[in-house]
Amino acid sequence: MQAWVIGNWKQNPATSHDVNVLLDDLLTAINAEEQADTEHPNSRCQLMVAPSYIHLAAVSTRLKNSSVLCAAQDISSHSASTGAYTGDCSAQQVADAGATWTIVGHSERRQYHKESHDSLVQKLSHALAQNLGVVLCIGETQTQYDDQQTLEVIDAQLAVIKDLLIQQPELISSLSERFIIAYEPVWAIGTGKVPTVAEVSKTHQHIKQKVAGLADTAEAITVLYGGSVNADNAESFAADAMIDGALVGGASLKAESFLAIANAF
Ligand code: G3P
Repeated sequence: MQAWVIGNWKQNPATSHDVNVLLDDLLTAINAEEQADTEHPNSRCQLMVAPSYIHLAAVSTRLKNSSVLCAAQDISSHSASTGAYTGDCSAQQVADAGATWTIVGHSERRQYHKESHDSLVQKLSHALAQNLGVVLCIGETQTQYDDQQTLEVIDAQLAVIKDLLIQQPELISSLSERFIIAYEPVWAIGTGKVPTVAEVSKTHQHIKQKVAGLADTAEAITVLYGGSVNADNAESFAADAMIDGALVGGASLKAESFLAIANAF
């Protein structure tokens, strides 16, 4: 299975200048690595970055002739195209700005913007209507982890896919191409705390089985781990067959650490 390493830049970098510096560093390092290894041009995992809306068009333009894809961090639940929704950005708008994927359901959106189950189903539907792939984030809080409720929480969060499939059963056959699941325990995000590889592996196995059950297929969906992934711990996650890559926050803001993580997968 193709590995993916995705950089979620969140509300970073601060300025367009800093965005360009990060992209310069990233593209220069990727070029240097590709030139040093011309025998294996396609050996790298798939890279993607998710800048903030304000930088999306500029970043996607700069990435156009590279192997790095561009994603939005979120899309509007209200409409796939246009409407009176101040502050929102639609799936059509982010696709027009050059995104080919969007993150949906990140825990920071769930927490700070009170995203409901129904609004997430709408976002999935709007993304797919505009041909955007979806990186659906799921994961339990510290209290839920302590109470050993991880799998229950994840099942409840994955129910958005079930409801989408009830509305649009024709999506069943292409689910694993159009969706990536990112398992991000909330307590591991930006904290330096990580679950053990065995815990992540078991949870990913559960997610793959659950999604295959929803789509009634044996085909496994891509499941990434996110939460304090860095250049030092990436290899241990990459060594596990259930972990198909990483969704990276802080460490994606430096080309060196982002590529070190990518090279681990
Ligand atoms: O979406 C990525 C994320 O929430 C993990 O962030 O900074 O812990 O790698 P970080």
